[in-house]
Amino acid sequence: MELTGKTILMTGPTGQVARPVAEALARDNEVIGLARFSDPAQREHLEAVGVTCLPVDLAAGDLSAVPAEVDLVLNLAVVKSGRWEVDLRANAEAAGLLMAHCHRAEAFFHCSSTGVYQHAGAHRLTETDPLGDNHRAIMPTYSIAKIAAEAVVRTGARIHDLPTTIARLNVPYGDNGGWPAWHLEFMLAGSPVAVHPDRPNLFNPIHEQDIIATLPALVAAAAVPATIVNWGGDEQVALEDWVAYLSELTGVEATLLETDQTIGGVTVDLTRLHELAGHTTVTWKDGFRRMVAARHPELLDRP
Ligand SMILES: NC(=O)c1ccc[n+]([C@@H]2O[C@H](COP(=O)([O-])OP(=O)(O)OC[C@H]3O[C@@H](n4cnc5c(N)ncnc54)[C@H](OP(=O)(O)O)[C@@H]3O)[C@@H](O)[C@H]2O)c1
Repeated sequence: MELTGKTILMTGPTGQVARPVAEALARDNEVIGLARFSDPAQREHLEAVGVTCLPVDLAAGDLSAVPAEVDLVLNLAVVKSGRWEVDLRANAEAAGLLMAHCHRAEAFFHCSSTGVYQHAGAHRLTETDPLGDNHRAIMPTYSIAKIAAEAVVRTGARIHDLPTTIARLNVPYGDNGGWPAWHLEFMLAGSPVAVHPDRPNLFNPIHEQDIIATLPALVAAAAVPATIVNWGGDEQVALEDWVAYLSELTGVEATLLETDQTIGGVTVDLTRLHELAGHTTVTWKDGFRRMVAARHPELLDRP
């Protein structure tokens, strides 16, 4: 399944997850990227690959400059200011305003997070499992703002009869960074990597190549009421193991700091994703090695 010849409005195109997606889609589609473009270099890069950049502050909620007649909306912006008023407005209210503004689109794709689930240790979470304030320890507003945004998007789908997909992303990573890339930076700085005492801390990391590959099918699965689906990689990997692998690859020492002031493992059942979009193909070790090669090639050039 492919996305070609569409006019696509994408929020958050400078972000870790969205940037490679925007680059890929801009090859065969007209992509309009909406963000504040707080980093001018990111804007320059996106414009160079053919993305039209539209500066809009979602927290302000004024969409008058945003084209309403688009084929598809990909909502990948996220606001993590830690201030409730801002984060509810910019994540939840803005999603609703965007749906109303673009209600004639063929589909609305909303990127959510598996951080909406109640912590459940090694249990593989299905889409109907209990929701909770998962990320409170490190991002006080994140999980609740993401849950609020999902509720708004579910409602928007029904009000506007707008086919919608809500995809709950697990741990995205790749050449453009991600949580594991931060772990490598901590290691390089000589800082410990926080690890929750409820071990092992299992996740389903998903490489940006698989995000790009599965997106068209997830868009095609948009429906009313909204389709809700976990979005992660096939392999279940412990954070403890990926930190050890990063250390093995690079020769950089890793220390773990056990603390409950961090995110605990979040691992997901991917039955629905596999039905809708098939399996992921990048193995985690290959993906992590590629990530290191892209971000710190000097670390792989050891004798
Ligand atoms: N990264 C992860 O580990 C992870 C895990 C699970 C789910 N997710 C989900 O994946 C999606 C993308 O996350 P990400 O980590 O890639 O985000 P990110 O790197 O933090 O990027 C956020 C994007 O939103 C834009 N943005 C921020 N504030 C804005 C505002 N007030 N108005 C307009 N645009 C604004 C940013 O551009 P400007 O700052 O220039 O405005 C940027 O393009 C989100 O839905 C997130 O919840 C991410």
